[in-house]
Amino acid sequence: MLKGRSLVEPEDFSLDEMDGLFSLAEKIEKDEKYLRESCRGKLLATLFFEPSTRTRLSFEAAMLRLGGSCLGFADPGSSSTSKGESLADTIRMAASYSDAIVMRNPKEGSSLLASRYSSVPIINAGDGGHHHPTQTLTDLLTIKRLLGKIGNLTVGFCGDLRFGRTVHSLAKALARYEKIKMIFISPTELVLPDYIQSILKKQNVEFYEKEKLEDSMPEIDVLYMTRVQRERFFNEDDYIRLKDTYVLNAEKMQAGKKSLIVLHPLPRVNEISVEVDTDPRAAYFAQAKYGMYVRMALLSSVLGVV
Ligand code: NCD
Repeated sequence: MLKGRSLVEPEDFSLDEMDGLFSLAEKIEKDEKYLRESCRGKLLATLFFEPSTRTRLSFEAAMLRLGGSCLGFADPGSSSTSKGESLADTIRMAASYSDAIVMRNPKEGSSLLASRYSSVPIINAGDGGHHHPTQTLTDLLTIKRLLGKIGNLTVGFCGDLRFGRTVHSLAKALARYEKIKMIFISPTELVLPDYIQSILKKQNVEFYEKEKLEDSMPEIDVLYMTRVQRERFFNEDDYIRLKDTYVLNAEKMQAGKKSLIVLHPLPRVNEISVEVDTDPRAAYFAQAKYGMYVRMALLSSVLGVV
């Protein structure tokens, strides 16, 4: 039962619970009327202390499609945080107005803190460079729908693996599935953080670190491209030096399997050339749509209407 539960990290839900969400999302995808009015009278607070397009809009679209309503802010400058209000107070207040809270915040650990002060479920929509569990649900559902399984796969992560929270959450989540081999492709400055590597080692996950994308292309089943996270750099020169390290283009795609799928949490900057968009293996726009369905499944579950 997910009623009343918060989602701070992907491991907050068991594999069975996640499977339940994927089945629910598939039902919603196939029958647009399913659960349509189920959240009538419920309010979702969306507190975005950091920019977002997809995540915020997909949560709002999900809640509106379920018949519920949304309130919140997308610009922290317009909230009382700019007057010095603590996160704990903002959360207590939002919890008294709403039935669930979706929060994105630049500080690592902020969602965990919020969950301690909230009387309603907290859904982490990204806490700094740490985690982004609803993107992970989106990614896993996309893999399941397009490849028919989550397991026995080689997953290549490419780009900013140091600051990319979607990578951290997805790698941790995939470690719980059978026979997932991971290849982490990044410049040395942007390698996967030690704490994620230790978790993977503890779980005996087979993984490798590489610098060149081309070398691994032929064996990858799921290629997860990411943007270099400019806002988390301390130094603009480093960003400029590293931002175009990887550009996936039609030529590089030639070395990929026929069954390959290319994912990206979006927004894309330069790391996937637009010519790849028409390749049938480019799945990032479909992925964004699955994100809305899985968020509908999540909201209806934590609000206890299914
Ligand atoms: C990601 C994020 O915010 O971490 N975007 C998203 O939620 N779809 C990835 C990114 O910003 O690069």
